[in-house]
Amino acid sequence: MRTLKYSFSRILIRTNCIPEYFRDAYPAGYPATLITDGNVAGHHLKHIAGILRPRLTLRTIVLPAGEKTKSLKTAGHLYEKLLRINNGKPHLRTEPIIAFGGGMIGDLAGFVAATYMRGTPLVQIPASLMAQVDSSVGGKTAVNMPQGKNLVGAFYHPDAILIDPVFLKTLPEREFVSGFGEIIKYAIIESPALFEFLRLNREKLLRRDTGTLLKVILACVKIKTRIVEKDEKDANGIRARLNFGHTYGHAFETASGYGRYLHGEAVALGMLKAAAIAVRKKICPPTAFLKIKDLMESFGLPVVLPDIPPQKTAKLLLSDKKTVRDKLTLILPVRIGRVTAYYSTTSVF
Ligand SMILES: NC(=O)c1ccc[n+]([C@@H]2O[C@H](COP(=O)([O-])OP(=O)(O)OC[C@H]3O[C@@H](n4cnc5c(N)ncnc54)[C@H](O)[C@@H]3O)[C@@H](O)[C@H]2O)c1
Ligand SMILES: [Zn+2]
Repeated sequence: MRTLKYSFSRILIRTNCIPEYFRDAYPAGYPATLITDGNVAGHHLKHIAGILRPRLTLRTIVLPAGEKTKSLKTAGHLYEKLLRINNGKPHLRTEPIIAFGGGMIGDLAGFVAATYMRGTPLVQIPASLMAQVDSSVGGKTAVNMPQGKNLVGAFYHPDAILIDPVFLKTLPEREFVSGFGEIIKYAIIESPALFEFLRLNREKLLRRDTGTLLKVILACVKIKTRIVEKDEKDANGIRARLNFGHTYGHAFETASGYGRYLHGEAVALGMLKAAAIAVRKKICPPTAFLKIKDLMESFGLPVVLPDIPPQKTAKLLLSDKKTVRDKLTLILPVRIGRVTAYYSTTSVF
C-alpha cells in the first residue's frame, strides 16, 4: 500500500484503493457525479459503480471517447447536465466530481470541476497508463481549441488521486505501449534507476504484471509530485523539465495530422529529436542517445523521425505556447537521469 506525501492531493497507489478512500471521505449516501467515456464505461462502469454505490449516491455521465470530446462545447453540455442532474436539481458545489478515464476525461472533467460553481471537489481515478503515471497528477486541467491543444484551462488539484492498476488490463495494446513514452521520459529526466528497471523488466511490464507496473507507476508519480511541489504553476522553470520531448513531440503530432501518433509515441519521437540535438551540440554523449533509442524500440515505441520540412517544424515550434518572442526553450538530455534547459531561436534547428 502506498500513500504519497504530497501537498496538493491525497494519492493512493494500489489495487483496490478506491473503496478505502470513499469510506473515509464522505458520509454514507453522499451525492457524487462520475464522468467517464464510452470505452472505459464499457469495460468498467459496472465494476466501479458496484464499488461506489454502497457509499455514494452516484450519478454517471458517459461521454464519447476520443480527443475531440475535450472541448469547450462538451464542457458547456456538462455544465447544463450538472445543473439538473438530481431530478432537475443541480449538482451542488460541495459534491464531488469523479473523473474516471484516461487523460482526456481527467483534463475535461477536471476543467469542469474547476469552473462549475467556481469549483467543486474533484477525485481523479485514472484508467489509462498515461493518466496513471502522468496526467492525473499535478493539477493541470484543460480543453482544446480549434487553434491548438490545451489552450483553455486551469490549475486545479483533485482532493484525491486513486490509482488502481486493475483498469490497465483492458487498455488497448497501442495505448498501453504509448504510456511508456511518458514513463521513459521520467527515467531520462530524473532517474537512472528507473531507466535500468525498465530495461530489466520490459517483458513483465509488457505482459502487464501488476506488481511490476505498480513499482513503475509509483516511481513516476514520486518524480512528478516532487517537481510539482517545487513549481506548482509552471512558473520558475523546474516544472518545464516535464516537457522533455514535448516541444518537438507536439510539432510532430500537429504536422503529421492528429491521429497518426498517440501522445506517448509523439513524446518518444520528440525525446529522440531532443537527444539528437543534444549530441550534435555536444551536451550529451552519443552512447546515451543510443541507450534511449534502444529502450524505446524494445518497448515498441516508434524511433523513426517523421519526414517534415524544417520550415514547417520551425513554424510549429514558434506557435508552441511555451515559445516566448521567438525564443524557444528546449529541454535536452545531458545524460540518463539529467536534463537541462536550452534556449535558442528556431532557426538553429
Ligand atoms: N493534465 C496533464 O498534466 C496532462 C499530461 C499529459 C497528457 N494530458 C492529456 O491526456 C490526454 C491523453 O491521455 P490518454 O492517453 O489517457 O488518452 P485518452 O483519455 O483519450 O485514452 C486513450 C484511449 O484509451 C481508452 N481507455 C482509457 N482507459 C481505458 C481502460 N482502462 N480500458 C480500455 N480503454 C481505455 C480511452 O477511451 C481512449 O480511447 C490528452 O488529452 C493530453 O492532452 C494531460
Ligand atoms: Zn505528455
